Amino acid sequence: MDLFEYQARDLFESYGVPVLAGIVADTPAEVRAAAEKLGGTVVVKAQVKAGGRGKAGGVKVAHNPDDAAAASETIFGLDIKGHTVKRVMVAAGARIAEEYYFSVLLDRANRSYLSLSSFEGGMEIEELAVERPEALARIEVDPLVGIDLAKATEIAIAAKFPAEIVPKVAPVFVKLYEVYTGEDATLVEVNPLVLTEEGDIVALDGKVSIDENAEFRHPNHAALVDTDSEDPLEAKAKALGLNYVKLDGEVGVIGNGAGLVMSTLDVVSYAGENFGGVKPANFLDIGGGASAEVMANGLDVILGDPQVKSVFVNVFGGITSCDAVANGIVGALKKLGDAASKPLVVRLDGNKVEEGRAILAEYAHPLVSLADTMDDGAAKAAELASK
Ligand SMILES: Nc1ncnc2c1ncn2[C@@H]1O[C@H](COP(=O)(O)OP(=O)(O)O)[C@@H](O)[C@H]1O
Ligand SMILES: [Mg+2]
Repeated sequence: MDLFEYQARDLFESYGVPVLAGIVADTPAEVRAAAEKLGGTVVVKAQVKAGGRGKAGGVKVAHNPDDAAAASETIFGLDIKGHTVKRVMVAAGARIAEEYYFSVLLDRANRSYLSLSSFEGGMEIEELAVERPEALARIEVDPLVGIDLAKATEIAIAAKFPAEIVPKVAPVFVKLYEVYTGEDATLVEVNPLVLTEEGDIVALDGKVSIDENAEFRHPNHAALVDTDSEDPLEAKAKALGLNYVKLDGEVGVIGNGAGLVMSTLDVVSYAGENFGGVKPANFLDIGGGASAEVMANGLDVILGDPQVKSVFVNVFGGITSCDAVANGIVGALKKLGDAASKPLVVRLDGNKVEEGRAILAEYAHPLVSLADTMDDGAAKAAELASK
């Protein structure tokens, strides 16, 4: 999960990383009030999860509250790399003497951490990396040691910071590393980290990506989720504890086990080529168990997707027996009643398959049909979706 700049700023502050005051605002009137509160020169900054906001016109300096409100009028609603600006941060204005770059990130290829830093920040780091790679210091960080003051000093020297700046930036690198490990982040990036005219080091922009696998360790991270831009079906599935990913097609898919569901998506796509190019509408792994409740919740989410025209339930009974799955489907259909309004193709195989098929045959729901194989089921579901 990527954070907004203002969320990164708040985290930085709580770890003692030097930042400037910032107040979020959702309307020009709130911007004016924030600028009045901060006093002096402020910077109005678009809050979108995309870089290059400055170049896109999403960062504007204002010398008084009226100018700040006027600047925000041009920023609200702006489209920056496909993200519409709905919120800004009004930040205290810094008098910048120099702009630097610092980041620490997970280096998957080397199974380690990596710090990137440069005495020449401000410009887009991707450009710097291409045009002047020697200006970007890449220093491996041993996760068992981390960035202590000695390591931070090594990084600053490698990034060609002048001797008198090294002792100023190194403690900030240490604090940023504390944010990185303390929050289970996979990236902490500051561009620019600035030296002000007054001689202070300040993080003026922050990007933090958080590892969602570590969610259980951070109950406070739930509050950082941007529920506004979350897909409503994915949000609903998440609330129900389902492993669901929304896709673009017309055939809803339910299966047990991530591997089986992944191959079901392939088989449905393949079959769909014969029926006008219909595609899977989602990934949904109901896992082991597949109780009536889980099945009903899964069907409920999938049928709530207006794009879905048919549903393919593909279950291989292992530890989960097919009769339990069939009972789950029957229970789900009873529970959903008229809400179950789209054709369902069910393929069962494995443990207790005969019993499972018998249960569905006996229930004889008009929208349910059985398929013998995965290919047959996918073809049937694709055909139904194309009608
Ligand atoms: N609080 C601030 N005071 C003064 N200048 C700022 C401030 N915040 C940003 N800037 C200037 O605007 C530029 C772009 O802002 P930044 O926050 O880095 O956005 P982005 O990286 O998305 O373009 C910075 O490089 C800096 O020169
Ligand atoms: Mg920046």
